[in-house]
Amino acid sequence: MTLKRTHTCGELKAEHIGQEVILNGWVGPRRDLGGLIFIDLRDRYGVTQIVFTETDVELHAKAEHLRAEYVIGVKGKVIARGEENINPNLITGEVEIEATDLIIYSEADTPPFEIKDGIATNEDVRLKYRYLDLRRPEMQEKLMLRSKLYQAVRAYYHGLEFAEVETPVLMRSTPEGARDYLVPSRVNPGKFFALPQSPQTYKQLLMVSGYDRYFQITKCFRDEDLRADRQPEFTQIDVEMSFVDEEVIFETHEGLIKNIFKETIGVDIKTPFPRLPYEEAMNTYGSDKPDTRFGLEFVDYSEIVKDAEFKVFSGTVANGGAVVGITIPGQGEMGRGAIDRWTERVKKETGAGGLIYIKLQEDGPLCSVAKFLTPEIVEQMVDASGGKTGDLVFILAGPKPSVLEQLGHLRLIVGEEFDLIDKEAYNLLWVTDFPLLEWDEESRRYHAMHHPFTSPKEEDMDKLESDPASVKARAYDLVLNGSEIGGGSIRIHNRKVQEQMFKLLGIGDDEAEEKFGFLLDAFKYGAPPHGGIAFGVDRIAMLLTGARSLRDVIAFPKNQRAQSMMDNSPSEVDVEQLNELHIALKRTLK
Ligand code: AMO
Repeated sequence: MTLKRTHTCGELKAEHIGQEVILNGWVGPRRDLGGLIFIDLRDRYGVTQIVFTETDVELHAKAEHLRAEYVIGVKGKVIARGEENINPNLITGEVEIEATDLIIYSEADTPPFEIKDGIATNEDVRLKYRYLDLRRPEMQEKLMLRSKLYQAVRAYYHGLEFAEVETPVLMRSTPEGARDYLVPSRVNPGKFFALPQSPQTYKQLLMVSGYDRYFQITKCFRDEDLRADRQPEFTQIDVEMSFVDEEVIFETHEGLIKNIFKETIGVDIKTPFPRLPYEEAMNTYGSDKPDTRFGLEFVDYSEIVKDAEFKVFSGTVANGGAVVGITIPGQGEMGRGAIDRWTERVKKETGAGGLIYIKLQEDGPLCSVAKFLTPEIVEQMVDASGGKTGDLVFILAGPKPSVLEQLGHLRLIVGEEFDLIDKEAYNLLWVTDFPLLEWDEESRRYHAMHHPFTSPKEEDMDKLESDPASVKARAYDLVLNGSEIGGGSIRIHNRKVQEQMFKLLGIGDDEAEEKFGFLLDAFKYGAPPHGGIAFGVDRIAMLLTGARSLRDVIAFPKNQRAQSMMDNSPSEVDVEQLNELHIALKRTLK
């Protein structure tokens, strides 16, 4: 029998005093106090204190059997807590339930960790017992916020007459730069589907089909090296729009993000978001996803030091490299030991060859390589640094673009270490004007920086053949506090340009026809100009909840080795199953 609940564990207040209620939930901590037994009863909505008195001897005896995580139903009367027992931190903190009936639905073994917030349990154990981990209030809060996020997204797009369309999960591979997860087809021996890295081709085809505005909240799969902000299986808000330019995409999605913030955490976000061209982002922050919650903008000293005798500087500049630095407020008195530790850290964590510094001290600047520089050069550098007495300048020299990336990395470490980051802020910005292509030394060919369907900028079209590296793309990313939360582009909708793009990427006519013939064909039958974007739901949820890793906002995530600790997948399969799928394993596998 189930007691039909009248209330959840998170709603009874003083106004309910005197009412008879029924609650269901899980038993939290139990306290026995001279004849009185107190338990915290917990469900997704909150916690309510239950008290068993000795009035009913049988009921009291039954309550003595209760242990943590038993699932029970309780009938009782809402009574006021004594003045000294009121808990202002709980919604239900003014009341308790004096039990008159108790049903034990399920007993429970002692869980491998306590069901409460802030536990120090190893993550693998939490993932193995994920169903228990998800019982913890902080995990429930995160998943409930995620649920609100879906709702806000759907309401927003439906309000703008977007069509929500599902695209296939079994498909032909789409190139997004990662490896595919493959699915063998039993009825098509030797053939495989790929799980979507994104629904890119389908959403473009939906534009050819005239759907005008599409969105979908959908799973994507990428077999890539994992980091804290990457999962092999993740969720995108995927969007495509016809007859639009960048402005429409930006405006529409600033509205989306504003709506998400308002509905999930009640924060008002200012629109429009600032925009920063890729090149400026790299030159100022050494990153295409700059965290702009703090300054430490780069100062380029190359021009000042290009003729210095110090070869590390002049040689670097002569070879097309750069001498760049950041000015750290208030650290000008840093001692020898601390500087040495920073130097080691810089070498180890950023890969830079060394660290040069200038301390802006009361009695003049103290530069670590002063003996190789003229006082005039040092003076000019101090002027350029924008620093004041008491500040510290860290400088790196090296080939571009690696030195910019290294300083970008150092900037983040310094920002964190000296507490320069405004942790309350939500800094959103569009990064625009990405290069269309990036050169890959290993394969010795160009790769699409975004993906091969991204349109070059109109004004760069004529450089596609003569100077492909300088061509800019109509691509954009949305960055939040240093995380890339979305990316998209205006697409190529012309078969000829798309063929030209494939050629640039070293994809021959036959390969293009075999892999993307359907898309090229579709473009023959009237393709509207179109563009779109996709957002990473997991990353947005992570930032909104302040979680440290994507795993904390995904109900059943994979670990860093792309495995599920709970059900032990991926797993081996029976030989019969392999036979049916026409698959033979290599002998090197056990
Ligand atoms: P892109 O590859 O930039 O673009 O992906 C869009 C957004 O998805 C998120 N994301 C991830 N989140 C978690 N784990 C991952 N492994 C992962 N990979 C990506 C990021 C990213 O900004 N088809 C294009 C979009 C378009 O052009 O419309 C695409 O997928 O937040």
